[in-house]
Amino acid sequence: MRKLRIMSVVGARPNFMKIAPFARALDGYASGITHCLVHTGQHYDREMSESFFAALNIPEPDVNLGVGSGTHAEQVGQTMIAFEKTVRDWKPDWVVVVGDVNATCACAITAKKEHVGLAHIEAGLRSFDLTMPEEINRIVADRLSDLLFTHCAIADRNLMAEGIPENKIKRVGNIMIDTLEQNRSMALALDPREIISGNLLEGGIVRDITGIENRYAALTLHRPPNVDRRDALESLVNLFADELSAEIPLIWTVHPRTKKQLEAFGLLRKALSAPGIYLVGPLGYRELLRLNLGASVVLTDSGGLQEECCVLGTPCVTMRENTERPITLQEEGGVSVLTGSDVGKIRNAFHEMLRQPRREARPPLWDGHTAERIAEIFAGIAR
Ligand code: UD1
Repeated sequence: MRKLRIMSVVGARPNFMKIAPFARALDGYASGITHCLVHTGQHYDREMSESFFAALNIPEPDVNLGVGSGTHAEQVGQTMIAFEKTVRDWKPDWVVVVGDVNATCACAITAKKEHVGLAHIEAGLRSFDLTMPEEINRIVADRLSDLLFTHCAIADRNLMAEGIPENKIKRVGNIMIDTLEQNRSMALALDPREIISGNLLEGGIVRDITGIENRYAALTLHRPPNVDRRDALESLVNLFADELSAEIPLIWTVHPRTKKQLEAFGLLRKALSAPGIYLVGPLGYRELLRLNLGASVVLTDSGGLQEECCVLGTPCVTMRENTERPITLQEEGGVSVLTGSDVGKIRNAFHEMLRQPRREARPPLWDGHTAERIAEIFAGIAR
């Protein structure tokens, strides 16, 4: 009997924790399903890509399209050209895309034009903000998909409001939480002091970090509205360096894009020399999870971290004007508040969150078994 041929796609860092449990779950159906993993190469630095494959036990990609950095059109266009050849060579029955990065959109369009079944894991998220490249990627992937795997009822409603037939929507839960639960105990065994000393950014000042593991805040920042405009980034650096880090040590894990912008705007020195800021390079999955597990508060503009904070119970200041993940917000029972890039709002939310105890807020089906549910659906198609 011919096996079902599934080709899944990753491109950028937030995809890796979503594909790891999916690849593993498909292994359990090897007699009926053949799996091919494609990496578009959007993220290529060792610590943005390879280190996740190693830590999360993701199989070596069968194909790497080597697309690299560029404008959105360059990334999407080059991915489509290279992926079209890959699809024609391997002839999948299904292409599975995850999340909302440029690889998601490019490969969704290509798969559909090649008349291949398309499935989207993490479907139905909407910020309703079309200035976000990710929102465009989500809408395109969802509109073209034959199977839409969602992580909450809000996502289902968003899809139905856009006219997606209900029978294509499968609520399966949050696949990223599978990875979180699989790594939680290994992460807990790590020492935050070693995470800091082992990853200090070049030029960082080595300071006494005794006791830091008992009380700190964790910070990540990479979205264009926060890091691509000098005035926005400068106000944020001033807030972190002059105010927030005076109250609690701030461990700031710096994305390559942010580092580039800090350098370009002449702000890196200020961040590096602030006595309460510990600047570290991009961290591995477990290292960041460890920081989240012990942080008094997380400040971030990432989507995934907002979700992880809910499951771990870490109060979270989300430095964005909107979110495609409203289920993470306090008003929906979550642990996060939206502040945008406004320094006054961030300051207030930070103080408010510092007073709040950790409180787990786990939505239904965010239980660590999402990949199994998805694999079972494909196994049903294969039978
Ligand atoms: C991408 C995703 C974003 C996700 C983020 C997580 C899109 C549209 N955006 O944004 O949704 O939250 O990944 O990281 O897909 N760079 C390196 N090394 C790398 C990768 C990037 O130095 O391995 C630098 C390059 O200068 C590059 C810049 O970072 O130009 C931005 O990378 P890019 O992949 O375009 O977007 P991200 O900001 O990482």
